[in-house]
Amino acid sequence: MYSERVLSGMRPTGALHLGHYHGVLKNWVKLQAEYPCFFFVADWHALTTHYESPEVIQNSVWEMVIDWLAAGVDPTQATLFIQSKVPEHAELFLLLSMGTPLGWLERVPTYKDQIEKLREKDLQTYGFLGYPLLQAADILIYRAQHVPVGEDQIPHVEMTREVARRFNYLYGREAGFEEKALEAAKKLGGKRTKLYLEARTAYQEKGDDEALEQAKAILQEAQSLSMGDRERLFGYLEGARKIILLEPQALLTEASKMPGLDGQKMSKSYGNTISLREDAESITKKVKTMPTDPARIRRTDPGNPKNCPVWELHQVYSDEATKDWAQQGCTTAGIGCIECKEPLIKSILKEQQPMLERAQQYLDDPSLLRALIADGCDKARKTAQETMRDVREAMGLDYS
Ligand code: TRP
Ligand code: SF4
Repeated sequence: MYSERVLSGMRPTGALHLGHYHGVLKNWVKLQAEYPCFFFVADWHALTTHYESPEVIQNSVWEMVIDWLAAGVDPTQATLFIQSKVPEHAELFLLLSMGTPLGWLERVPTYKDQIEKLREKDLQTYGFLGYPLLQAADILIYRAQHVPVGEDQIPHVEMTREVARRFNYLYGREAGFEEKALEAAKKLGGKRTKLYLEARTAYQEKGDDEALEQAKAILQEAQSLSMGDRERLFGYLEGARKIILLEPQALLTEASKMPGLDGQKMSKSYGNTISLREDAESITKKVKTMPTDPARIRRTDPGNPKNCPVWELHQVYSDEATKDWAQQGCTTAGIGCIECKEPLIKSILKEQQPMLERAQQYLDDPSLLRALIADGCDKARKTAQETMRDVREAMGLDYS
């Protein structure tokens, strides 16, 4: 159960671009080989801001999944699903809402920011206020340990940790906890029992964090423990409560260095993007019409790459030799801007080629796409249901 699960979600609000590829998706592709990964389409989250235009979401869901697959996200390695197809997220969101202080939600920095930024939308809604709590439910329901997110999402993961801690504090009580925990510790067996208990004492009495990690490692490795005993022993380490919901860690995704066509960061709101599966003609045209160093008015004027957005793109796409060539050619007026852009167009199209190929099979046969998502939803639901059983039981909702 405490395998190192990774979970992340993305809102379906439009076509993905190369910024998403270089920032988020390449990272997902790397992670899927290292951890059991859950990646999902956060369609309910999209609704919090697009409740007046749900068609935007509907049109983006499948296109976004195709973009993921095009980028190399592999459904045989990672579990891909759609949030609203696992309604357990909503149940956990509801149950967590009971004990979540309003102030926690109001104080999340993105809350007031976004209301300000998206002023054309009315975000004075209950759903939008609940955005981070829904995200907490997304994460906690899979007992995910790692949540790859950008910097702006760190406060949401922090709040998720608080929500988990509060839940365990409120509902992890159990009659005879200490006795049960000691019983469970015995089941670790001889030397491990001793190591576990000593590490616990070292942590509780001297605040020895290393000892805490050691004790956790012992529990991770103990194959034969039941789920209940494992929860007890994790809880016993830090207090007198069962750990029902696991506190996740944010796995900071380095901010995408992907420059847009105008030198600003590539972003839909700046209108400076190249989308992941854009056609070659359009890409070529976009790069050819990119602004360059404004000081290079004539072909014979030398330029300064530092003042040129094209140079930024060379940093992403070109090897040292090409960069030297561009630098030299620019500052001596040895090459023209059109020439300077040629290797870039080539590189972008080359990078894109395997993506187009991977996408094609799903475009040819959409049922393939539907099937792999249905499969992912089933897997996700199974995991979510396990957590919900524990959650309902802890909250006294397991009537029988
Ligand atoms: N809020 C995230 C974003 O805008 C999307 C998201 C929803 C998410 N639920 C999540 C990310 C759970 C990580 C984990 O990018
Ligand atoms: Fe920019 Fe290249 Fe033109 Fe120099 S030569 S201004 S780097 S496009």
